[in-house]
Amino acid sequence: MIIGVGTDMVDIRRIEKSAERFKTAFYSRIYTDAERAACDSRAGRKKISAYAMRFAAKEACSKALGTGLRQGVFWRDMENANLPSGQPVMRLTGGALERLRALTPAGFRPVVNVSLTDEYPYALAFVVISAEVE
Ligand SMILES: CC(C)(COP(=O)(O)OP(=O)(O)OC[C@H]1O[C@@H](n2cnc3c(N)ncnc32)[C@H](O)[C@@H]1OP(=O)(O)O)[C@@H](O)C(=O)NCCC(=O)NCCS
Repeated sequence: MIIGVGTDMVDIRRIEKSAERFKTAFYSRIYTDAERAACDSRAGRKKISAYAMRFAAKEACSKALGTGLRQGVFWRDMENANLPSGQPVMRLTGGALERLRALTPAGFRPVVNVSLTDEYPYALAFVVISAEVE
């Protein structure tokens, strides 16, 4: 069953400006080391698009959790990764994981599904949290 949905659209140029203005502080506040390594491995414009899609994913996930970036849910608690196939996944830790566990009914396990896309200058993410019988 579905227990949360969230979506977010980001202007890639806004992410670019924040990154230029705040430099390392921007990246280290929002992204985990693994996310930064994955995005930094992309060439040219694909790099900032990768950061923007992952930014949107975090906001979408925070909405699916029903909190936003509040109530102990922080940016780096929601880590984007990819399966070997390229499919995006999100790994939750800290306050986001606590919230996810609180949302999940007893006897179920949570699954965070994520889909990302970009078409310059926009990046978009969609997150669906479901609960499956253990
Ligand atoms: C929920 C949150 C993620 C919304 O993000 P936003 O970019 O400000 O706004 P968006 O236009 O994407 O989304 C707004 C909509 O989110 C939804 N929303 C608000 N609170 C929500 C919550 N707790 N759970 C789920 N959805 C929520 C609402 O539908 C809202 O629209 P409405 O007020 O007209 O009903 C925001 O509360 C938040 O925590 N933002 C942090 C942003 C931030 O820190 N930015 C700094 C950049 S470095």
